[in-house]
Amino acid sequence: MTNVNSEKLSSARFAEATNAFVEEFTASVNFDKRMAKQDIEGSIAHARMICAIGILTEVERDAIITGLDRINREIESGEFVWSIKQEDVHMNIEARLTDLIGIAGKKLHTGRSRNDQVATDIRLYLRSEIKQITNELRRLQHAILDLADEYFDTIMPGFTHLQVAQPITFGHHLMAWFEMLSRDDERLQDCLKRINVMPLGAAALAGTSYPIDRQMTSDLLGFSRPSANSLDSVSDRDFAIEFTAAASLIMMHLSRFSEELILWSSAQFDFIDMPDAFCTGSSIMPQKKNPDVPELVRGKSGRVTGHLIALLMLMKSQPLAYNKDNQEDKEPLFDTVDTVINCLRAFADMVPHIKAKKSKMYQSAKSGFSTATDLADYLVRKGLAFRDAHEIVGLAVRLGLETQRDLSELSLVELQQYSSEIKSDVYGVLTLEGSVASRKHIGGTAPETVKKAIFTARQLIKDKQ
Ligand code: ARG
Repeated sequence: MTNVNSEKLSSARFAEATNAFVEEFTASVNFDKRMAKQDIEGSIAHARMICAIGILTEVERDAIITGLDRINREIESGEFVWSIKQEDVHMNIEARLTDLIGIAGKKLHTGRSRNDQVATDIRLYLRSEIKQITNELRRLQHAILDLADEYFDTIMPGFTHLQVAQPITFGHHLMAWFEMLSRDDERLQDCLKRINVMPLGAAALAGTSYPIDRQMTSDLLGFSRPSANSLDSVSDRDFAIEFTAAASLIMMHLSRFSEELILWSSAQFDFIDMPDAFCTGSSIMPQKKNPDVPELVRGKSGRVTGHLIALLMLMKSQPLAYNKDNQEDKEPLFDTVDTVINCLRAFADMVPHIKAKKSKMYQSAKSGFSTATDLADYLVRKGLAFRDAHEIVGLAVRLGLETQRDLSELSLVELQQYSSEIKSDVYGVLTLEGSVASRKHIGGTAPETVKKAIFTARQLIKDKQ
């Protein structure tokens, strides 16, 4: 029998060439070539293992490894010719290997399938990208800690409903961002545990009849163990979904961080100065300095959440085991990786250059009766019930509003008309400094507590490295 289509994968079965558009439509090489390094790494480990069990001679194994190393260099230097005729990264590399070394190249695929191969590649790829993401994330955390150190006792208003609520320290606010990123870090490291399990050996879906040594391949590739079920190994992409969920949370946090930087650098707030190098001007309004980096990051958070939904929908209702649907996992995943790394990097570079405008922050904290709760707490310490104290302070705030003065600017006589329990020591709690200094419990905003929190955080982050 003559083969009518010698270029086609598994061509002997087909009497007809693939439709030219379908060939393009089904190919993934244009995007999955990004995993070439991991594909080669996986193939080298597989070759070593099938040699150890007697499928390849040592000469064949060495020819394969030398050939794959050469292909790796060809890819790195850009001279490798990718072809959509070979559909995906796996077939492109295998075809080139056979070109280079002949028959031994054709033996490499013994005991495996592209189904377990691609699942392995994605896991190796994510494992290495998570390391990069973690590096950028921790770099940003260091930058936040340095800024928190600089502004540990800088007073600013804390907000609820975007209205001045109670005075806090800028250092404390910065440490809130640090905490969010710490949980993001934990989530990444946690999903890494489930990513770092090896699918190779599952073959197409049912495993293989060769006496493969999966533990050996797993050890060679630095996986924690071989996967436990061949069907599950080639089909589920839950690990990629989980990673994208962790990435979405990082982006959600960065979007909140962005939003505050955007608000604070506006003329209306005027709390911070954003570094010029991270802003741009307007093509029409010469006075403008736009906070482009945080705005772009805020915008990009939506696209990562979009990828999360895309991956969930991709996996939903898929029957076991592998389906071609899964080829659609790569573009959302790759874009998630790129987006989260770039956004963290931009922030890690930008944050050290943010300058707080201390007196603006201070004036703003003074403006919204931000020590009203402190006055109520003062009255409770004098023996009043909190609800009664709340009522009394409400009256004092009304007087302040009517006469356009802060609580600390009302006279003792004026304050005493609402409660005879108010004495001259009240001014100690009505000042912004007194208010923040009194919140010195764990998790509080007092400058001394913020210092301690920074110290503990530095230890924690050091232990992780
Ligand atoms: N390009 C494919 C993917 O990304 C590789 C696996 C192909 N397997 C198959 N049976 N067609 O999923």
